[in-house]
Amino acid sequence: MQKYPPFLSSFPKMAHGGDYNPEQWLESVPDILDQDIRLMRLSGCNTFSVGIFSWARYEPREGEFSFEWMDRILDRLAAADVNVLLATPSAAMPAWMRQKYPEISRVNRDGVRELQPGRMDHCFSSRVFREKVGDINRRLAERYRTHPAVKMWHISNEYQSLCHCEQCVEAFRAWLRTKYGTLENLNRAWWTSFWGQSFQDWGEINPRNRALDGSKLDWKRFQTDQIVDFLKHEIAALREGGATQPATTNMMSLWPTVNFQRLADTVDVIADDCYPVWKQNGRDEQTAASISFVHDLRRSMKGGRPWVLMESCPSVPQWHNPPKLKRPGMARMEMMQAVAHGSDGVLYFQWRKGRGGHEKYHGAVVDHVGHEHTRVFRDVSEIGNTLAKLDDLVGTTTPAEVAFVYDWEVRWALETSAGVLKDSAVEDDAYTETVKAHYFPYWSMGVPVDVLESRAEFSGYRLLVAPRLYLLLPGVADALKTFVENGGTLVLSAYCGQVNESNLCFTGGWPGDGLRELCGIWVEETDRLLPEDQQNLTFADPRFPALQGEWSAGPLCEILHAEGAEVLATYGAQFYAGTPALTRNAFGKGEVWYLATDVDPDFLLGLHRELKNRLKLRQTTGTDLPPGVGATWRTDGESEWVFLQNFGTDSVEISLDSRPHRDVESGETVSSPLHLKPVETRILQRKA
Ligand code: GAL
Repeated sequence: MQKYPPFLSSFPKMAHGGDYNPEQWLESVPDILDQDIRLMRLSGCNTFSVGIFSWARYEPREGEFSFEWMDRILDRLAAADVNVLLATPSAAMPAWMRQKYPEISRVNRDGVRELQPGRMDHCFSSRVFREKVGDINRRLAERYRTHPAVKMWHISNEYQSLCHCEQCVEAFRAWLRTKYGTLENLNRAWWTSFWGQSFQDWGEINPRNRALDGSKLDWKRFQTDQIVDFLKHEIAALREGGATQPATTNMMSLWPTVNFQRLADTVDVIADDCYPVWKQNGRDEQTAASISFVHDLRRSMKGGRPWVLMESCPSVPQWHNPPKLKRPGMARMEMMQAVAHGSDGVLYFQWRKGRGGHEKYHGAVVDHVGHEHTRVFRDVSEIGNTLAKLDDLVGTTTPAEVAFVYDWEVRWALETSAGVLKDSAVEDDAYTETVKAHYFPYWSMGVPVDVLESRAEFSGYRLLVAPRLYLLLPGVADALKTFVENGGTLVLSAYCGQVNESNLCFTGGWPGDGLRELCGIWVEETDRLLPEDQQNLTFADPRFPALQGEWSAGPLCEILHAEGAEVLATYGAQFYAGTPALTRNAFGKGEVWYLATDVDPDFLLGLHRELKNRLKLRQTTGTDLPPGVGATWRTDGESEWVFLQNFGTDSVEISLDSRPHRDVESGETVSSPLHLKPVETRILQRKA
């Protein structure tokens, strides 16, 4: 196994640092750079994102530019050997621009232009905004393309898109023309005879249409495509200005409105912002697993290449409700968790707390007191010490035998299909919750997982888990078939294969597009129970002793017929009692498990443990872990670095496999069992 290139090509070390906004201080505290550089050294920080919201300072009046202040900052940082990710400033337009070009400000769904100043509130279709961004980016590139501090471009900030202005609507129509060619095709794909919505002219199309699920889905796709286009435009302007440094943009976890998978190819490195809400009053394993899931997705976005944690909070964000402080050790847990799951660095938002503005109470490395004698600063310095011992990990990855499918396309199709998930009993983002519910067992068993979109390459994996794969893009059903035919094990669950890429229901029985044959079942109806209704999944098959019993099930219950599949469990109640709730079908050299209902998490754990045992999947420590412990590893093919983290409330013992293990921080050999206290992380090295 080869190492990937370091996140910053000339810097084969773990990055440590954060968002740095010295321009907020330059006038009032003239020696702020000296103070900060001293503190950066003390805390082991080496990498900073600079200039993210600096457009108003670069161009205080239209066409009047000032870069000397940034020259000074970059020169000082270069002299101090600090790496800079220089931002393109498109996330916040200057006040004059907002005033002179109101068309840049976003228009909401109700058609109202949002003129209240803020940030990240521009329209991606605005021609004047594109021009202005192109211009400032080119100027920055021309000026800083060879600056020794500037190692990477940080493109904008947390792209998101919600504009409904006329330019966007026009752009949407143009996008549809390219996609469908003719209105006839579009009318067919969107099923526009419903409520008499058919279109005779492209100009009649309105993305606010509430009637057409296909329109709603395409509008979401269009908005992401627009972001990708804008991202490309920003990078192209840098290249025109002669900049050759790589580029990244910071993504936002599982943000609902952007399909971040689509951005992956355009950037050189995947970067993510992560602000978990830890409960810290009991076992936080669900939060931990849910964060690991997102990290695994980031690592998988470029086929296993390390990503970077671009923003995180060393203390607490002011927007957490309530802003409960991180308990001692928790920041280290959070940051090491990102590294464990493939991040080649830890960067914070933010380096220094500002005195004013909406984020003046947002946690930062340097607090208002201004010195290093704070708990948070000590935490960050400790993290710095640990990262300095992890340089060998840079470029290493985690080989996974299991892949999960998580796809914004599926999420959006569910969101835009009335009556499927969006009403009463199940919360809005039930898709994500369901996928995470199936992921949790793997997290808790210490089995590494990749997280892929549905149109990914599955062939290298042994187990594929695709919960609630409601929408099937063209080719996906065939890829699943091939995967199973060739010996793969596939897990599918309720609401699978109901619609095609246009959000049109498949005919001929669910799951559609050939999955009915693959699964050996026919889903006839779907019941959605009320909270007071009872349902259970009854598992009586003696071959799986750990799964036997009655497990609470629902609220979603598919009623299905086995058509060749073996029935492993049945429903225990309602008028469909005794009908299949879990089936398994042999197909080619592999098999498909189909779970027709939501079910008790303990059952899910048992089910996935069964699969892990059957397939003899590799576990981090070779055995199951105590509850609350997260475990994974990274490797370069010769060494393995094992991360063990206790998110529980009790001290636990973990048995290690027979290889010698060395504690990376203390250098000592570790014997088995290893004792792990609550809120403790240990990083061990062993031979691969
Ligand atoms: C992020 C944003 C940062 C900062 C941070 C606060 O979403 O990119 O600029 O506002 O949130 O948590």
